[in-house]
Amino acid sequence: MLLKDFDLTTRNTLALPARAALYLEVGSRERLEALACDLSLKGLRRFVLGGGSNLVLTGDFDGLVLHIAIPGRRCTGEDADHWYVSAGAGENWNDFVRWTLDKGWPGLENLAQIPGSVGAAPVQNIGAYGLEVADRIAGLTAIDTHTGNPLRLSRADCRFAYRSSVFKQEGWHLDGRTAIVEVTFALPKRWTPLTAYAELAAELDARKNAAPNAREIAEAVAAVRRRKLPDPATHPNAGSFFQNPTVDAEKAAELTARDPTMPSYPQADGRVKHAAGWLIERAGWKGKRLGCVGFHEKQALVLVNYGGARASDLAALTHAVQADVKEKFGVDLIPEPVLL
Ligand code: EPU
Repeated sequence: MLLKDFDLTTRNTLALPARAALYLEVGSRERLEALACDLSLKGLRRFVLGGGSNLVLTGDFDGLVLHIAIPGRRCTGEDADHWYVSAGAGENWNDFVRWTLDKGWPGLENLAQIPGSVGAAPVQNIGAYGLEVADRIAGLTAIDTHTGNPLRLSRADCRFAYRSSVFKQEGWHLDGRTAIVEVTFALPKRWTPLTAYAELAAELDARKNAAPNAREIAEAVAAVRRRKLPDPATHPNAGSFFQNPTVDAEKAAELTARDPTMPSYPQADGRVKHAAGWLIERAGWKGKRLGCVGFHEKQALVLVNYGGARASDLAALTHAVQADVKEKFGVDLIPEPVLL
């Protein structure tokens, strides 16, 4: 049912107040296709909403919010190397990961406990503890929300990059042009554990588990996340608020010369990624609040709404931190969530 003047406060994990002129929960691909024929909605601005866990609502939205709630998960085939598993875009991401592990299909365990939906995972190419979802995606189906036509994208078509994909690069996500309806994953039959990420390795060490299986890795990842990342149910947040900045080799050398303890992750192209959380902490913002918003005391990269925050409160804090980190380190911090 098409709802008017819909309150989005409970539909974004930062709990920012904003209203949508129109709101529709979409439970099937057919519903989305039919929408394209609805003349009363022609030309209307759209936004495709998943779990709302990577979203900053900067104000009311004068168009149509499509909340994708398409269910379903199944194994669609296998070959010598992979199981192919498909899921509806509306499935909860963590429930889906746990289900694959229960079925005996490893490969997504490092991405356990990430909030959000299956359909949102490819948009920003979610990543954690040494794995990006791009590494496990075979392809996906999206629908053009204006024409109802399907788009089938292979992994290469998705143009995955760090926290990015064709959906962000081409603006299809922000202008609601495409809605992902199903994602197909290629899960490896010859599975090898990815346990090199320092915090995950330390957690497995503490558990005295030198040869973990995929479910045990998921448990260790979940424990690390629960320890460090605030639960949106009690501390509304959108995960990492900034991307980890990548700088050229010259700038990286300058930064590490100033402080050799600065975490640095050399990239294939010679550039170097640094940890935004470290920069924010060193600039003195960890655990610090400005009004009702602040950076979490255990992970400086996570901005928390401590109650009653509005978009302007977030803007004031993020601009202050961006300016301070720029002044102290000469590094630009770019927000990681989608700003609507
Ligand atoms: N660090 C600090 N202070 C902080 C936070 C981090 O000094 O307050 C240092 C850590 O000690 C470590 C380094 O920065 O040396 C990296 O920290 P961490 O392992 O916590 O990861 P991150 O770079 O802060 C990224 C992702 C997370 C993901 C983790 C684990 C981005 C923007 N964030 O965070 O993803 O869970 O790695 O792989 O890439 C998200 O995207 O929402 C998200 C939570």
